[in-house]
Amino acid sequence: MNYPALTTEMLAFAAVFTVLSAIGFQVMRALRYQAQRRCRTEAEEAALQQLRSEELALTLHQSFTDFSLQQQEARWYDVQVVRIDQESDDSRSYYLVDQSGDPLPAFLPGQHLLLERPSLYGETPECRCYSLSDDAQAGYWRITVKRASDHDKSVSRWLHDTVVVGDKLRVRGPSGAFFLQSCTARHVVFLSAGVGVTPMIPMLQQAVQRPHGSIRFFAQFRDVDHAPFAEYLLSFAHQFASYAEDFRIRLFLTRFPRGVKGEEDNVIQEGKFTAVDVCDGIDVLDATDVYLCGPESWLNTMRTGLLDAGIPNENIYFELFHAPASEPIPSVGREKKDFVPCSVHFRQSNRLAEFASAFPSLLGFAIKTDIPMNSGCRTGACGSCAVRLLEGKVRYTRKPQYPLKPNEILPCVCVPDGNIVVDA
Ligand code: FES
Repeated sequence: MNYPALTTEMLAFAAVFTVLSAIGFQVMRALRYQAQRRCRTEAEEAALQQLRSEELALTLHQSFTDFSLQQQEARWYDVQVVRIDQESDDSRSYYLVDQSGDPLPAFLPGQHLLLERPSLYGETPECRCYSLSDDAQAGYWRITVKRASDHDKSVSRWLHDTVVVGDKLRVRGPSGAFFLQSCTARHVVFLSAGVGVTPMIPMLQQAVQRPHGSIRFFAQFRDVDHAPFAEYLLSFAHQFASYAEDFRIRLFLTRFPRGVKGEEDNVIQEGKFTAVDVCDGIDVLDATDVYLCGPESWLNTMRTGLLDAGIPNENIYFELFHAPASEPIPSVGREKKDFVPCSVHFRQSNRLAEFASAFPSLLGFAIKTDIPMNSGCRTGACGSCAVRLLEGKVRYTRKPQYPLKPNEILPCVCVPDGNIVVDA
C-alpha cells in the first residue's frame, strides 16, 4: 500500500497540533486540579461550617438550659439516703432521692444544697451547705461530706456517726452562684484543694460534653488516704488519654507514697501545683475560665498567682469552704474602736437586743440571742442566711459572693451600722 508523501505543510500542521494538544492537556489538567481542589476545600469548608453551627446550637441549647435552671427557685425536699460510699479516710458520699418518688431536679454543675440537722439538745436545727458532687441531670442528688470536726454539735460529725442508709433528711436546693458557664472555644480550668474537689466533679462531667478549647483539672490532696474521687478521676483521665493536648487531669499529693517515682506526665504528681503550672502552655489567657474551690488561704494564694500570670479577674470563679460552725467567723477590717453601740430589732421574733461588739457577725449575734436564722456556708456564698433589712444600714466584713436582691442582707458576713430592723 502506497502512502501519500508527507508534505512540509502537513508536518507543520502536525507539529502545531501536537503542541496545542499538549498545552490543552496541561490546561485541562490544571483546570481539573483546580476544580478538585475547590471541591475539596468547599467540602472541608462545608464540614467546618456544619461543625460550627452544631457547636453554636449546642452552646445556645446549654445556655437556655442553664438560664432556666438559674431561674429555678430553691425549695425544701424530704429526701431519703439510699446509699453511702466511703470516698477517703475522712469523707463520705450520701446519695439522696426524693421520698415522693419523683426525680430530684437538675442543677447547675457547681451548685450546692442546704442540709438540715434536726434539733439536738433542744436547740434550733443547724443547717450546712454541701456541694452536689455527681451528674447534674441524674434525678438523684449526691453530696460528699468531710468529717470536719469532732465537736459535739458538728453537722459533719452527726452525718458520719449517725446517718445511715434509709434515714430521712430535709434538704433545700439546688442553689449557689458558683457554676460552670457555657464555654464555646474557651479554655476551662478546674482547681481544687482537699474536699473542694466535690463541685468540680459535675463541672468536669458537663465540661466534656460542651464545646470548649481545652480542659485542665488540677486537684491538690494531702496524701492517698485523703484523696476523694482519685480513682474516678484516674479512670476519667484514662478514658480521655488520647486527647492529651486538650485534656489534662493532674492529682497532686503533698505526701507521696514512699518508693513510688513520679513521672512528669503521670496523672498523679508529687508536691503542690502553682498558678504557673496551671497556666503553662495556655497562650490565650483572656479566653480561659478558671474555677477554684478550697480553703480560704489556698484560694487567696492561687487567685493572686492566676492574676499575676495574666488571667483576667472576671474569668476567675471561686467558692469558699464553709466556716466551721463552732468557730466565729473572722472579722475583716473592723476594729473594736470603730464599734458604736446599736440595737437590733428582730421584727418577726418581736425581740429588741443590744448588739455587742464581741460578735463578728449579725448571724452569730442572732444565734446567741435565740433568733431562728438559717445558715450554711457562713462565708457569704450560699445565700441561706439572707433576710430582709427593714430599716437601717449594715456593714459587710466580707464581700458577699451571693447575688443579693434589693433590701436583702447576708447576716453571716455583716454587722449593724447603727440601729437596724430585720425581718427575722
Ligand atoms: S450562710 Fe451562706 S451566705 Fe450566709
